[in-house]
Amino acid sequence: MNFGIIGCGIIAFTHASALKQLEGEGCKRYACCDIIPEKADQYAADHGFEKVYYDYHELLADPNVDIVCVCVPSGLHGQVVIDASNAGKAIVCEKPMEITPEKVDQVIEVVQKNNTTMQCIFQRRLMPVAIALRQLVQEGKLGRICMAEARLNYYRDQAYYNSAGWRGTWDLDGGGALMNQGVHGIDLILWMLGDQIDTVYGKAKTMSRDIPVEDTAAALIQMKSGAMVIIEGATTAYPGFSSTFTIYGDMGTVSFDDQHIIAWEFIDKENAPQRPDLGEAVGGAKNPIDIGIYGHICLLRDIAEAVRDGRTPMLPPQEAALAVKVICGIYESSRQGKPVMIG
Ligand SMILES: NC(=O)c1ccc[n+]([C@@H]2O[C@H](COP(=O)([O-])OP(=O)(O)OC[C@H]3O[C@@H](n4cnc5c(N)ncnc54)[C@H](O)[C@@H]3O)[C@@H](O)[C@H]2O)c1
Repeated sequence: MNFGIIGCGIIAFTHASALKQLEGEGCKRYACCDIIPEKADQYAADHGFEKVYYDYHELLADPNVDIVCVCVPSGLHGQVVIDASNAGKAIVCEKPMEITPEKVDQVIEVVQKNNTTMQCIFQRRLMPVAIALRQLVQEGKLGRICMAEARLNYYRDQAYYNSAGWRGTWDLDGGGALMNQGVHGIDLILWMLGDQIDTVYGKAKTMSRDIPVEDTAAALIQMKSGAMVIIEGATTAYPGFSSTFTIYGDMGTVSFDDQHIIAWEFIDKENAPQRPDLGEAVGGAKNPIDIGIYGHICLLRDIAEAVRDGRTPMLPPQEAALAVKVICGIYESSRQGKPVMIG
């Protein structure tokens, strides 16, 4: 499979590193593209890509490209994905898939119409403890789920927001602490719970940074089952904390963060499920370049196999839509000062 990377910035390094690990499995670093020619040239030289483009339409017109990785600013994802789908390419799209519910739905419609194989990136879903916890919830091992929490308290200074013109803007980042950083954890807690959402009630504020979007937010998600999910999301929490996830049930509670399993408690101690390995620690609380590559390796391997075998990959766009819809619901609730229904 020949991979083409569109957007040669920070996350593109993770894609290149993951593809290096998959070289022996037939995944080739073939083409890359950036509108800044020096960035594209440097990236190609650093990571061994043989073709360089400065206009992504030309990369999409290259018949040798099988799978494109969309690594441009978030508010451009939809257009690039739609063009790639219309060009007949398989697609890997960085999070968030898009930045509004309307654009997310538009992407899904085009991808379905073209029967495109598309993988979205939410690498935390590959954490063994998250997979185990989702399974425990499904099997009822925690009893009735009454409450859950995702504490997503990152630190990003003003220099981070100034480092690229799109960061912290409504048009291209789609929001701040929630839409850029917190989207990972919101996706993860909702995926582990596997429940349907009734309403969200939230406050999103700009407390410390010189940006138009939120740097600090809190929300309550009311699930259809009755469970309440508490979300904290910030980029103002010095020095940046491990994201922490807890699901409380009346027969058991599991809590973990980026490096540890914090609680693994079951009322029936004798038959308590075995603790899973945490797997590779997930970074990024203090610095975006510290995220691991395990999840990206798994998701890129999976799309290559999905294309080869003609199957749906692990994280198709329908799966990646909910977190964006919930975050936009929190923004809307904050504007209106009342709970908002999530369709
Ligand atoms: N999965 C993760 O943990 C993770 C981590 C970081 C970033 N991301 C996501 O990756 C995306 C990019 O973030 P980043 O931090 O790498 O940004 P970045 O600013 O470092 O890189 C984006 C690159 O895209 C290029 N670009 C812009 N428009 C383009 C176009 N039309 N055609 C080709 N190239 C274009 C820019 O010149 C820049 O080099 C964002 O959507 C972000 O949310 C995901």
